[in-house]
This record gives sequence, structure tokens and C-alpha cells, in this order.
Amino acid sequence: MSEFSNPNLEVLISSEEIQQRIKQMGADVARDYAGLNPLLIGVLKGACIFLSDLMRAADIPLGLEFIAISSYGASMRTSGEVRILKDLDVAIEGRHILVVEDIVDTGLTLSYLLANLKSRGAASVKLAALLDKFERREKEVPIDYLGFPIPDKFVVGYGLDFAERYRNLPFIAVVRDPEV
Ligand code: PRP
Repeated sequence: MSEFSNPNLEVLISSEEIQQRIKQMGADVARDYAGLNPLLIGVLKGACIFLSDLMRAADIPLGLEFIAISSYGASMRTSGEVRILKDLDVAIEGRHILVVEDIVDTGLTLSYLLANLKSRGAASVKLAALLDKFERREKEVPIDYLGFPIPDKFVVGYGLDFAERYRNLPFIAVVRDPEV
């Protein structure tokens, strides 16, 4: 059975639309960070596809790091605190940081992470996010480079999962029936 033409998926943003938008975002990043040797930090796991396309659209010298943080949990909902499961391999003091995320939802994860990275003495900390589910925001998070605002629907694909499935879709889709 084909996963990409699964009838349980309704395409929200096509592969072509995503690639076109990321080309523009990469050009914006290249223009803004020319001569600054930025460090791109991908937030595992969902951001990996967006990150790999965005960095190849940004034609400047740059560095790459990954961070893994705990996902949705009851304790985070109340405290806003996020656990770092895999930290950066390098110090970031004086570096220009661009955090790369697949989606900003409540904003709890990113507001914690951006503050954490700033506290390590970075020269600047900005955020690139492919998707902004703005209606669900609980904590304000400035998105410096945004792909697409999206409605409050459960989306998968292009790195985003439903129970670890669908990350490999080349497009963003809404799951019609989560039980299938
Ligand atoms: C997603 C996304 C962000 C976070 C955003 O990750 O990549 O890290 O949720 O949500 P928030 O704005 O409500 O804090 P997820 O927990 O799904 O982990 P994954 O990337 O490993 O799939």
C-alpha cells in the first residue's frame, strides 16, 4: 500500500509549495547571516527534513548542531519546563544561532529553548519554523523565518509524525481518521 497516496491523508501543503517557500527562506537566511557563520540548531526529531532542505537553500558558510528535548507531557504543560535529552556538542558563546523547528504550537517548547540558548551567551538567537499553529499559542514566540501559518488541525508529514508514522511524507497532510 502506498503511504504517499494514502486516502486517509488530506494534503494541506504540497511538496512543490514547501520547496518553493524554503528556497525563499534559505535566500533570506543567506542574506541576513552573510559573514556571520551562523550555527543552525535542529530540534530532533521533527525538524530534520525541514533543516536539511533549508540549509541546502542557504548558500553561505554555516555550522550544524542538534538538540533533543522532551516532547509533550503533563508536567511541561503546567511548568513550561522542557527536559534536554541530548544537548549540543559545542559551546555557543558569541555564536549567531538559528534554531530550526518543524512547528510552533503552544510555544512552550520554543520559549524555553530560546531562553536557554540565550543564557549560554550566544551573540544572537533566532528561530526558523516551517509551520505556525498560531491559534494554539500559550507563550509568545517570535518566529523570524516562517514557512506557513496553519489552522488548528492535526498535521503530519515532512518530519511531523503521528505515533512515529508519516514523517517521510514529502508534503504536509491532515489525518482524516487517526484510528486508521
Ligand atoms: C514538536 C515540535 C516542537 C514542539 C512544539 O515536537 O517539533 O518541538 O512539538 O510544540 P509546542 O509549541 O506546543 O511546545 P514533538 O514533541 O512532536 O517531537 P518530535 O519533533 O520528536 O516529533
